[in-house]
Amino acid sequence: MAKHSSASSFPIQKRWSLMILLCIALSTAIAFFIGASFRACNSRDYSEKNNFNSPIHSFDSQSSAAEKEEDPLSFMKSKLVLLVSHELSLSGGPLLLMELAFLLRAASTRVVWITNQKPTERDEVIYSLEQRMMDRSMQVLSAKEQEAVDTALKADLVILNTAVAGKWLDAVLQENVPRVLPKVLWWIHEMRGHYFKLEYVKHLPFVAGAMIDSHTTADYWKNRTHERLGIKMPETYVVHLGNSKDLMEVAEDSVARRVLREHIRELLGVRKDDLLFAIINSVSRGKGQDLFLKAFNEALQLSQERKLKVPRMHAVIVGSDMSAQTKFETELRNFVADKKIQDSVHFVNKTLNVAPYLASIDVLVQNSQARGECFGRITIEAMAFQLPVLGTAAGGTTEIVVNGTTGWLHPPGKEGVTPLAENIIRLATDIETRRTMGRKGYSRVKEMFLEHHMSRRISLVLKEVLQKAKRG
Ligand SMILES: *[C@@H]1O[C@H](CO)[C@@H](O)[C@H](O)[C@H]1NC(C)=O
Ligand SMILES: *[C@@H]1O[C@H](CO)[C@@H](O)[C@H](O)[C@H]1NC(C)=O
Ligand SMILES: *[C@@H]1O[C@H](CO)[C@@H](O)[C@H](O)[C@H]1NC(C)=O
Repeated sequence: MAKHSSASSFPIQKRWSLMILLCIALSTAIAFFIGASFRACNSRDYSEKNNFNSPIHSFDSQSSAAEKEEDPLSFMKSKLVLLVSHELSLSGGPLLLMELAFLLRAASTRVVWITNQKPTERDEVIYSLEQRMMDRSMQVLSAKEQEAVDTALKADLVILNTAVAGKWLDAVLQENVPRVLPKVLWWIHEMRGHYFKLEYVKHLPFVAGAMIDSHTTADYWKNRTHERLGIKMPETYVVHLGNSKDLMEVAEDSVARRVLREHIRELLGVRKDDLLFAIINSVSRGKGQDLFLKAFNEALQLSQERKLKVPRMHAVIVGSDMSAQTKFETELRNFVADKKIQDSVHFVNKTLNVAPYLASIDVLVQNSQARGECFGRITIEAMAFQLPVLGTAAGGTTEIVVNGTTGWLHPPGKEGVTPLAENIIRLATDIETRRTMGRKGYSRVKEMFLEHHMSRRISLVLKEVLQKAKRG
């Protein structure tokens, strides 16, 4: 009897601790400082678990202790670095800069943070993120105070994050701009047209360097600044992003993956052997959820017409926000209703906690349109979970996905719909290819897209920029 009861309680305990682990494993290292109070475990499925504070802290200190052994950023010790963020939110750009801030802190760099645009009323997200930074002994200054100017003048290095942060230079530094420019490293993560404005980037030619997430984006900036604005890019360094240690930890834990897979599938109401194709991106036309649903619907029809023997297929759209993108969201839902595919399409609210979804799906679709993603971090995250990727042949995706090896690329735009549908069918009918591509994607991540790869690349850039700043 006793034997029986201990055997049955073990999986429950195990499950409990896994859920805690998984809840803190967000898509970026930033998971740590988002903390217990909000968002970290915002998907409703974990809401009954109450306190994640202690696991977050212990997890955190362990990993930074391990890092100390061979930290490529160790030459940054006691240097003073000013980080200028255009805003502070849970979106890609600011989170990435915070990730860098924490890497620098781990190397004992003195880090000062400025957020250029802040809402006037108190914002919980900003408050909590700033708190986390101060907990790690970073100084958080208001963008316009005199101390911000003094820090910029004293700093060994100033890192501007995103093109829009350029507005801060004139607005705050004023006549001091020329003294600061030679030690500015400008980190750029965007390539939409409205960033190519002199108002934002006129100082770009005079900074020590630009750091850009992919070669495609770097080329694009070079062309556009030249053709549209008649200015020249400074020395430009391409630095691909890397997966955080905590994401890798979940991705490499087969028990965790299985538990999550069952859990999310149960929530979505899909069966064990059903095939899930997912887009994980905030819902907007630029991310191409509409074209993905068209392709998915076409794939369903093709599979019927050709009488293929495939498992039941589902499309999962993670990143819904009915309150923000109402028109586009409504369009998506109307399409699903028109085509009567409600049973095969699942909308999931926006979440930072992507690991459970990556564990539960079979294929990631990266359908970003036009020039695509600057990098597209979700792509390397999916590959860490051994998922094949069906991506648009645009932007950073082309530098991550090896066509025919770790996934297949299709053209962006309407021309891409049928090729994507065919690729969906190809993967649906061929489990062996799915597995092989997934494994190869994982190897590629291990070779190129881990946090230590990113910090090594960043450290090389910082070294050069520091030297230049000294000479300048
Ligand atoms: C930049 O311009 C070169 C030459 O005009 C062209 O070959 C290249 O495709 C362009 N790159 C981008 C990203 O637009
Ligand atoms: C998703 O978000 C909508 C509003 O944005 C909300 O009404 C709904 O309850 C959320 N669903 C879940 C499962 O949290
Ligand atoms: C990807 O490879 C397939 C063949 O495996 C080819 O048909 C397709 O044109 C390629 N796509 C791109 C964008 O290179």
